Amino acid sequence: MINVLFVCLGNICRSPMAEALFRDLLKKENLSEKVTVDSAATSAWHIGSPPHKGTLTILKKYNISSDDLVGRQLTKKDFEKFDYIIGMDESNVKNIFEITGKPRHPKIIRLLDLTEHNKDVPDPYYTGDFEETFQLISDGCRALLEKIRNEQNLT
Ligand code: 4NP
Repeated sequence: MINVLFVCLGNICRSPMAEALFRDLLKKENLSEKVTVDSAATSAWHIGSPPHKGTLTILKKYNISSDDLVGRQLTKKDFEKFDYIIGMDESNVKNIFEITGKPRHPKIIRLLDLTEHNKDVPDPYYTGDFEETFQLISDGCRALLEKIRNEQNLT
């Protein structure tokens, strides 16, 4: 089993959106039995909370399930459990290193570094633009799946 974790600041806007999008992609590609997906926050602000209304609305618009999305905080143990730990922006990546106590590691990646965008995923909690964030995360999730396919010999 390959385990993928998406991480953002609050775990209510971007990382649950990525979790839902990537889970949907895995389902469509018949890979749900081979790859698991989860998401977590670097902060403790929204533990136990459902996603932001804007994230729920955009997922609904694109017919993507938002079942089982509950806020939780990243732990040290996550570093061992997950094969790919994907931050939404540079500060998330920095905080992932701080929380896990690990030095730079290739399994810790900023999502859009896998795409030609090469930038932070804008935080719609502040921008209000959930559509822009959805499109960028969608590109990132497709690139991540290609990377995993190549590295893990998935058929
Ligand atoms: P997220 O966005 O990291 O994409 O979930 C945020 C959610 C909540 C807060 C900030 C960013 N907050 O300040 O509560």
